[in-house]
Amino acid sequence: MHSRLISPVCIMISLVFLCTSAYAAGEAQQIQLPQPQLDTGKPLMQVIKARKTTREYSEEQVPLQTLSNLLWAAWGINRPDSGRRSAPSALNRQEMDVYVSLPAGTYLYDPKANSLVPVASGDSRAMTGTQEWVKHAPMNLVFVADLAKMGSGEEAAQMILAAMDTGYISENVYLFCASEGLATGFRVTIDKAKLAEIMKLRPEQKIMGAQSVGFPKSK
Ligand SMILES: Cc1cc2nc3c(=O)[nH]c(=O)nc-3n(C[C@H](O)[C@H](O)[C@H](O)COP(=O)(O)O)c2cc1C
Repeated sequence: MHSRLISPVCIMISLVFLCTSAYAAGEAQQIQLPQPQLDTGKPLMQVIKARKTTREYSEEQVPLQTLSNLLWAAWGINRPDSGRRSAPSALNRQEMDVYVSLPAGTYLYDPKANSLVPVASGDSRAMTGTQEWVKHAPMNLVFVADLAKMGSGEEAAQMILAAMDTGYISENVYLFCASEGLATGFRVTIDKAKLAEIMKLRPEQKIMGAQSVGFPKSK
């Protein structure tokens, strides 16, 4: 009886702690995401009707559960038996990675472990775009293609495929946000050299775009 009561309380405390540590400034720590909830969301046609780009955000942080759901929808493993993903990729190369830029640091989304792996400490959200509005978003996703996973071939051809694969992931984010009443905006206006340095990327890792996510300013 006692342990039955304690465990949900412990889980809640852990989640509150994780939320605080993910969104507070300081040393970035690994974040175990809660299990994605797959039984939420509006009907598809209503979601498509609501999809749009928003460039004004409230400062309020997105709850960790919503972030977990968002990342699963964006680029999670939707067929665990084969390891295939929520978005298609050319030849199923799965060369894309989604990074999350939060106040405490920048994290790599690991869909297998359902966790965020820190790659850099410190708040670099404002570096994920050169436009003024980017600075005000509470979180930014950065889409990175690892050309090393795309086999041999011309870099220009690989970049075209990676750009298409980025579009699918970005659209998943757009649709998820439309379903949840969240604001989102994709962009390619990024100082990629500077951001790649902050994110400690290898030369074969190419920044393809970034996308802000948050609550709309007038909620
Ligand atoms: C490939 C691509 C690149 C984009 N780059 C930017 C950008 O650099 N800055 C920006 O503010 N919006 C950018 N956008 C968002 C578009 O401006 C936006 O989708 C368009 O105005 C249509 O608005 P909607 O998404 O609300 O339908 C980009 C969209 C796409 C698909």
